[in-house]
Amino acid sequence: MTSNNGPICISVINLKGGVGKTTIAALLGRYAAVHLGLQVLAVDLDPQANLSQALMGERRYRRFLNDREPSIAEVFAGYQPPRADSSSAGTLNVAEVVQQSYFRWHSNLEVIPSRFDFSDNLISAVRPDPRCLARLIASEFQDKDLIIVDCAPTESIFTQAAYHASRYVLVPVRPEFFATIGFPLLNDSLETFRHNNRGHQIDVIGVVVNNSSYDGGNDGGPEKTRAMREIREEATENEWHIFRNQLGYSRGFPKMMRGDWNYLGNALDDYLDFATEFFIRLGI
Ligand SMILES: Nc1ncnc2c1ncn2[C@@H]1O[C@H](COP(=O)(O)OP(=O)(O)OP(=O)(O)O)[C@@H](O)[C@H]1O
Ligand SMILES: [Mg+2]
Repeated sequence: MTSNNGPICISVINLKGGVGKTTIAALLGRYAAVHLGLQVLAVDLDPQANLSQALMGERRYRRFLNDREPSIAEVFAGYQPPRADSSSAGTLNVAEVVQQSYFRWHSNLEVIPSRFDFSDNLISAVRPDPRCLARLIASEFQDKDLIIVDCAPTESIFTQAAYHASRYVLVPVRPEFFATIGFPLLNDSLETFRHNNRGHQIDVIGVVVNNSSYDGGNDGGPEKTRAMREIREEATENEWHIFRNQLGYSRGFPKMMRGDWNYLGNALDDYLDFATEFFIRLGI
């Protein structure tokens, strides 16, 4: 599953919230940069901006807001609004939109950050172009090895933007009641996208089971067993692969997102095992 030229672009999508999309996007981005030495660009398409905060760190992210540095909102708007040092709208400088991750010793991990006004910003625009991100990647980021896109939990024009930019979709799922409620919706939305974009190959690289809420024990009891059966059935029906390595419940995951890499418990092993499996499947 390797690409001969240009980056591999993957979107992390599930139309259900809180399943670990952002956690997984951040960790895979970090693994690719730190462990595999790849040139990585993370793109935050969620106005919650959790990925931006995780990769830039809280202080840097605050500075980015205060200094009115450009974000993904300006990428979609297509211009740089007036700032303290400019008296009119101007051309967007792509280099300014890209922020270095706070893993400073790994300059090969960068992020295009989001901002909480991202959606409002665009709802008021005439009609945001869903091909905007794909075009930007085509013209400015062909030197990257991996581009990982974190999506919001609702279907919108930004989900379409993520599809247009992506070769693969990764689907995190939490093994709980109604775990797969969004699967048919996602499958239909991908089918419609393929139908309308015949020249575009996009595939689900797989489903990753993430125990992002405490399930009461190691095996999770009957509720989790039921959910796992449902996940297997639905994934098989859609011909989606399920990754063998799951992420267990661990407070280590929120800690890693805050940049605290001490005492991570099982989270570190789970992360490394899943990331290894993921990149082998990707052929990197
Ligand atoms: N395996 C895990 N164990 C414990 N906590 C986890 C685990 N995975 C994620 N979390 C925590 O669960 C919460 C939701 O995770 P995350 O933000 O990654 O989900 P999301 O799918 O991106 O959510 P949203 O739909 O709101 O964007 C976060 O607080 C995160 O730190
Ligand atoms: Mg998220």
